[in-house]
Amino acid sequence: MNDFSNIVWRESDVEQSARWHSEKNIPPPKRIQVIDDTITADDAYHLACEGTGLLWRGDFQNARQLLNAIAKRIDKKNAKKPAIAVTSRETFNLYRQAQSQRARTLDKLLIPFETDHRIPLRRAPDVHSACMQVYGENHEPYVISLRELLGLIGAHEWRKKGVDITVLNGKIHPHYGVFAPIRQEYLQLLAETPLPSTITEDFTAFDIGTGTGVIAALLARRKIQHIIATDQDSRSVDCARQNISRLGFQKQVQITQCDLFPKQQQADLIVCNPPWLPARPSSPLEHAIYDLDNRMLSGFLDNVSNYLKPKGEAWLIMSDFAEQLGLRTQDQLVKMIKDAGLNIVEKRDIKPSHPRSSDTSDPLYAARKSEVVSLWRFNLETKN
Ligand SMILES: C[S@@+](CC[C@H](N)C(=O)[O-])C[C@H]1O[C@@H](n2cnc3c(N)ncnc32)[C@H](O)[C@@H]1O
Repeated sequence: MNDFSNIVWRESDVEQSARWHSEKNIPPPKRIQVIDDTITADDAYHLACEGTGLLWRGDFQNARQLLNAIAKRIDKKNAKKPAIAVTSRETFNLYRQAQSQRARTLDKLLIPFETDHRIPLRRAPDVHSACMQVYGENHEPYVISLRELLGLIGAHEWRKKGVDITVLNGKIHPHYGVFAPIRQEYLQLLAETPLPSTITEDFTAFDIGTGTGVIAALLARRKIQHIIATDQDSRSVDCARQNISRLGFQKQVQITQCDLFPKQQQADLIVCNPPWLPARPSSPLEHAIYDLDNRMLSGFLDNVSNYLKPKGEAWLIMSDFAEQLGLRTQDQLVKMIKDAGLNIVEKRDIKPSHPRSSDTSDPLYAARKSEVVSLWRFNLETKN
């Protein structure tokens, strides 16, 4: 296990310590109180709000209930504030601040682990495989937040079960921390857009920022024989490799860990689905959702012409959600495309149909209801 520091507390008048781990890179709480089933939800809520870490020694299932009770108290308090429709940079920043404050409070409920990922609490589940998948071998006692553990358990179940991808006629198994293709409308766009007419035996495609490997798999399903999929994140690379072999496309798809493009190669088709929101990720787990200062988007647009064969095409998947939230305008996006010397061939649009797009209680509903996801086709031809 990596990135651990120590967490120290007093219990029965003796100083104790264990390793601390947080996938979100949160430092350990400075004050720790050992608690069990006798604490009231109100007391736990107040301690967590003050920043005290609550190290749980009671029944594991009661800890889950306590977490829900604390969440209810936070949400009740927030419900008293006037509701804001998130439609501008300012309101989006306020929304994110409130979300991260909520997460910080909930992350104060802590669970102890013994060696070998065993939880020494009554009615604790066996989470050995879920923890092994994310943390690897461990030989020391450690402490994590209950929320992190619940995230690991959920991801483990999802990885086992997989997500049905209609246009792939198969399943993708997302790993912990890897962007999961839950919203499938962009995959529909990718499945329906005609491949460039230059398609031949040695037609080559790149999938830049492959995540689970879903786009590479779809290109392979569309009979492209040479695909190079890249990602800079090692979990994504492992996940994509497993999905590609499970689907039987390992002869067609090669997966490489690198920043954006595979070096010294060119392709007939280059596809990229970068993170859609230009904002600072609040933890390493958000690198696939937030793209600070459009780093990946502009890195892709500014350099893609160096990697495209003369008659090749680049396909960019981009939602206008950032535009609906006032984080970017379409004119700015078009300017980035033009400044990169790319010629827009076509923009194909689709309306999202995932459940959150019709959830009127979501503070982002106003932005979500108008959202359009697009596949932009570019080539290197001159504009005249
Ligand atoms: C929005 S996710 C898309 C994942 C996948 N292509 C899909 O459509 O489901 C963006 C992906 O780009 C990867 N990424 C971000 N910056 C990158 C970079 N500079 N080079 C390569 N991959 C990058 C992230 O790790 C993430 O897997």
